[in-house]
Amino acid sequence: MYDFKPAEPLAADALYRELLAAAGALTDGEPDGVANMANVAALLWEFLPDLNWAGFYRVAPAKGGGAEELVLGPFTGRPACIRIPFGSGVCGAAAQARATQLVEDVHAFPGHIACDAASASELVVPVLRDGRVIAVIDLDSPAPARFTRADAAGIEALAALLADRI
Ligand code: SME
Repeated sequence: MYDFKPAEPLAADALYRELLAAAGALTDGEPDGVANMANVAALLWEFLPDLNWAGFYRVAPAKGGGAEELVLGPFTGRPACIRIPFGSGVCGAAAQARATQLVEDVHAFPGHIACDAASASELVVPVLRDGRVIAVIDLDSPAPARFTRADAAGIEALAALLADRI
């Protein structure tokens, strides 16, 4: 069985290799997207040091119908804002641009949404299915410049794995 936590501190390539293997094993053959997002949020928390929030926002209809927006999904960390319009904050920027947002200093990011005042840096990666954004993976850290290009590449690989599992 997988131990869903690295046995020792790992360099980024090995860390993300193990994280992807664990995420693949946990979600394999399971069609329930909420269950898969919940387990992957827990896995991110176990694997990645120096986080204060790890989880998902899903693309869903706005209240009362109309435009789609991001709606809070399974996560680990403090309770967070529930709805984020496309283009708003770091998550909304990732959804609108369909591109990873690697933010070294959230206080310098125009429109950053502070769910937890402790957050200092953030990585948001869109999950694309057939070219459409269906969710974003959001990681927050209390450490400035916590996330690197290697983290972005690792989470992008995770997003690709999850595209038809959430
Ligand atoms: N900081 C995010 C909002 C989500 S929380 O960090 C969980 C943003 O600016 O989009």
